[in-house]
Amino acid sequence: MRVGVLTGGGDCPGLNAVIRAVVRRGVRDHGFELVGFRDGWRGPLEGLTMELGVAQCRGILPRGGTILGSSRTNPFSIENGVARITENLAAAGVDALIAIGGEDTLGVATKLADLGVQVVGVPKTIDNDLSGTDFTFGFDTAVNIATEAIDRLHTTAESHHRVLVVEVMGRHAGWIALHAGMAGGASSVLIPEVPFDIEAVCAGVERRFATQYAPIIVVSEGAVPVEGGDMSVVSGQKDAFGHVRLGGIGDRLASEIEHRTGKEARAVVLGHVQRGGTPTAFDRWLATRFGLQAIDAVAEGDFGTMMALRGTDIVRVPLAEGTGELKLVSAAEYAEAQVFFG
Ligand code: F6P
Repeated sequence: MRVGVLTGGGDCPGLNAVIRAVVRRGVRDHGFELVGFRDGWRGPLEGLTMELGVAQCRGILPRGGTILGSSRTNPFSIENGVARITENLAAAGVDALIAIGGEDTLGVATKLADLGVQVVGVPKTIDNDLSGTDFTFGFDTAVNIATEAIDRLHTTAESHHRVLVVEVMGRHAGWIALHAGMAGGASSVLIPEVPFDIEAVCAGVERRFATQYAPIIVVSEGAVPVEGGDMSVVSGQKDAFGHVRLGGIGDRLASEIEHRTGKEARAVVLGHVQRGGTPTAFDRWLATRFGLQAIDAVAEGDFGTMMALRGTDIVRVPLAEGTGELKLVSAAEYAEAQVFFG
């Protein structure tokens, strides 16, 4: 059997660990031949392949990014996109495909599976917002990077009696902000799921200074104020899946806090640092187990499924279960973090 592998959407630490596990198990235990498709769905769309054997996977376990490259190409928004994909898969002699991606990449996989393409999915995203799985790989690494940044910012904020606003990734879901904010002892965590009240944020800032501590406010890039969103910043640009490019809420928030409280406030935008570099041990472990399970699913003909972590087990769920609805922070989980606000 010849199996294609692709990685799509925003890259994240652990992608190479999945690829390595797929290849090692596929070659050794199933006698498969593997082929890499370059740059997400652009690979099968344009017939861009690369050799993918055990030799190509040597030394990639701790390496961030993806040796296959990635893109946000959406074949369903391109004329004859689906027909071109099926033609190119046949031309490359590919019987089945493993798609490693987030809501968009696996959303395409879901539709292709419905059209009869033999595909299985592996969930990845630093945002941890895919349903059906307890965690996606990449998230733990992003949270650790953000937590280390918050730890470092505490000491400099306190030395200068400043407010520091830390903007983290999270377009629709506040998981990174919630976990890193709690782990790093932030004085406020602002997430997309719960519009924030700037008055309450400023009151928290005053309370924090009253106890001689400098406030650290962690804000997701997709967070919006209750007033109606006039503080959120979007560039106006959209990607192939229709998502606006975010960024800027941290700066806006810092200047609003400075203006309202008279305290000096600065913003730190962590951005793509959260997606780069080596994965944590947890992410390598999770990504490796997803990869092993994905190639086994192919061997068993269990197509249209997505690998998922449930407790400590790796299980298979229908692809649609992972991509149907985003997994958001619940009110109860947010309430736990609020105990430490101000
Ligand atoms: O989906 C992961 C993610 O890192 C989001 O947190 C973020 O909004 C987005 O990707 C940024 O995408 P890009 O790197 O394409 O600007």
